[in-house]
Amino acid sequence: MPHPDTLTAHPDTRAVHAGRADLRGLGVHVPPIDLSTTNPLPGVEAGGDSYEALATGGLLPDGGSAVYQRLWNPTTARFEQALAELEGCPQAVAFASGMAALSACLLAARAEGRGHVVAVRPLYGGTDHVLATGLLGTEVTWARAEDVADALRPDTGLVVVETPANPTLELTDLAALAARCGEVPLLVDNTFATPVLQQPVRHGATIVLHSATKYLGGHGDVLAGVVATDAAWAERLRRVRAVTGGILHPLAAYLLHRGLQTLPLRVRHQTAGAGKLAAWLGGRPEVERVYYPGLPDCDPQGLVGRQLAGAGSVLAFSLRDGYEAAARVAAGCGLITHAVSLGGVDSLIQHPASLTHRPVAAEARPHPGLLRLSVGLEEPDDLCADLARALAAG
Ligand SMILES: Cc1ncc(COP(=O)(O)O)c(C=O)c1O
Repeated sequence: MPHPDTLTAHPDTRAVHAGRADLRGLGVHVPPIDLSTTNPLPGVEAGGDSYEALATGGLLPDGGSAVYQRLWNPTTARFEQALAELEGCPQAVAFASGMAALSACLLAARAEGRGHVVAVRPLYGGTDHVLATGLLGTEVTWARAEDVADALRPDTGLVVVETPANPTLELTDLAALAARCGEVPLLVDNTFATPVLQQPVRHGATIVLHSATKYLGGHGDVLAGVVATDAAWAERLRRVRAVTGGILHPLAAYLLHRGLQTLPLRVRHQTAGAGKLAAWLGGRPEVERVYYPGLPDCDPQGLVGRQLAGAGSVLAFSLRDGYEAAARVAAGCGLITHAVSLGGVDSLIQHPASLTHRPVAAEARPHPGLLRLSVGLEEPDDLCADLARALAAG
């Protein structure tokens, strides 16, 4: 239950207090970490009842036992409650990675006899790969956001979109897309926006997915995924999670829950820095094009300010001299680390075509001269100086 005082509070206040309403009553100031892999059972019958409830995707029954960590963990449940609150959803289900979270969504849809997925590119390379290969028994139809209604079939279980999308930050009008989905649940990967900038359920989405590895954790030290959704979908996802074993570890959940407290500050500060970097890169002769939702040509529908409260802190840019120059610039950065991932307090640069988007089919793979930059909390002038050195060396 959220604390009654925080229900009407500013989102920044909720980020600090979500999932902590009972702490005072427990006589503690920060959430306790429960590492138990198993739990004493109150009796054979009561233990069996708890097992039955949890293994079929239910919530921990009042006075019931958590039974076994793969089924339920109170520290993980706290983080789920907090994230659900920030996304404006009834429930959330946390996983060991963003890909485990996506896999559970696909398996849950397929288990309902709806294994057809309509997906809007671009998507994170791993998401594209699992859909394109049908590795989990789903079948994909790729569609432009405008054409989604024509791609739906009676067995379509999900429509999948990312906005802003990885790696070129395309924006999709979620309300318009949700209207085209009809009864089919719209899954929005909200990793790049975070609930600070965008709450997809407000615009008609049913399922909100995060690679929590990115902004929610924010410090590059937690691998995690989480799905915020309605009670029926949460139950389906917990059921899949119970049998596939993808639950988030409680130590990771503790760190993520702590990360949520500074999420609004980090996102806003990093967004301000990214805006400066995008403008600076746009003035560099070596740069062919900058992709950033804060630039007018990247937001033709005017979604920043309407659907997205800020442009975020990931940008991409292509180099006039193509792949060779991109490779030299990535390798030439010093303060900015050449590494995959994004959303942390320190800046990272990477080459999507050879890394995050390597598994994507050639026709949908990013430009070979494209680099993706995740802007951290460093002073933007220092980041510009680092990039200037790398560009000059290129
Ligand atoms: C937008 C997006 N979704 C999902 C994922 C997968 O998440 P994870 O790496 O936590 O499994 C990533 C990873 O980079 C991502 O960028």
